[in-house]
Amino acid sequence: MARGPVLALPLLLLLLAAVTGRAAARDDCTCATNKMTTCSWDSQGGRCRCKAIGSNHEVNCSTLTSKCLLLKARTVRSKSGRGLVRPSEHAIVDNDGLYDPDCDLDGRFKARQCNQTSVCWCVNSVGVRRTDKGDETLHCEELVRTHHILIELRHRPPARAFNHSDLDAELRRLFRERYLLRPRFVADVHYDDPTIQIELRQNASQKAPGDVDIADAAYYFERDVKGESVFSKPGGFDVRVRGEPLQVDQTLIYYLDEKPPQFSMKRLTAGLIAVIAVIAVALVAGVVILVITNRRKSGKYKKVEIKEMGELNKEPNL
Ligand SMILES: *[C@@H]1O[C@H](CO)[C@@H](O)[C@H](O)[C@H]1NC(C)=O
Ligand SMILES: *[C@@H]1O[C@H](CO)[C@@H](O)[C@H](O)[C@H]1NC(C)=O
Ligand SMILES: *[C@@H]1O[C@H](CO)[C@@H](O)[C@H](O)[C@H]1NC(C)=O
Ligand SMILES: *[C@@H]1O[C@H](CO)[C@@H](O)[C@H](O)[C@H]1NC(C)=O
Repeated sequence: MARGPVLALPLLLLLLAAVTGRAAARDDCTCATNKMTTCSWDSQGGRCRCKAIGSNHEVNCSTLTSKCLLLKARTVRSKSGRGLVRPSEHAIVDNDGLYDPDCDLDGRFKARQCNQTSVCWCVNSVGVRRTDKGDETLHCEELVRTHHILIELRHRPPARAFNHSDLDAELRRLFRERYLLRPRFVADVHYDDPTIQIELRQNASQKAPGDVDIADAAYYFERDVKGESVFSKPGGFDVRVRGEPLQVDQTLIYYLDEKPPQFSMKRLTAGLIAVIAVIAVALVAGVVILVITNRRKSGKYKKVEIKEMGELNKEPNL
């Protein structure tokens, strides 16, 4: 007689577990690769759908979100004054190209970007300005691809010196596993204590559909290094070389486009041929903006420092 309820109890527990398990899974509708999203279960299929804050663009949470959508989400956050982490109080400006960008249907930067005030300029695929600013009549033919990104890091002295080949392997692993970038796009890792250079190279013909763009991988990396991880999972960048943590204290990121940028000569220091604005992320020294000269004939890069902020201050109307 008592058999019925005894048998029913485990069944009931199982059912309960299934229900609560499902409830827990329902609560867990978040976007692993982008915390700047709002996610909800869709009514029919029970799929978790996530939309980028600021654009309502649906994002694919099994890959990286494009930098354009991330920047857009970030400007929304900074307007509302929450959710922003300042790397340090020494950082003068958080000018990592922070503006409210126009993104296309794929979430990529539109070639032409405009300020709320009818000021327009052309950008490359990492969203960095590559022409002079103009008015609304400014025409940008195409989105010029940034096919080479050089990330230059300086690290704090480790207790035990890093071995170049181990460091190389760890950084390649980081880009492969954390930023989902195909290994062939990490072209090189150079090391001369305390400076590490990571070269990412990817031209349009090499990039297959679904491949993470080096622009996005570099941006996720930049945010990680600044302690502003975009991933939902807590805990950021943690690279260890044989157990020894890599502590980055300065980062410079150089972007090189497939075509030389078009800044008018008169506004730049004499001697420059063509320039690309380059964003520098410096945790300690504040943000500096550099310029690379692409000397097409020699194929070498010449670095020249300019102060973009100074330029903006001097010419606020341009
Ligand atoms: C856009 O305009 C604002 C003022 O309206 C200015 O502070 C900002 O520097 C401009 N941004 C760019 C990239 O020109
Ligand atoms: C670095 O480690 C590799 C093995 O991982 C070893 O073959 C190489 O000799 C080491 N290099 C130095 C400079 O210690
Ligand atoms: C793309 O890169 C590969 C390998 O570096 C190179 O052989 C090829 O010529 C490049 N294609 C273009 C269009 O630049
Ligand atoms: C999301 O991205 C992954 C990895 O690139 C891809 O395999 C998958 O098809 C994408 N899903 C959608 C719905 O686009």
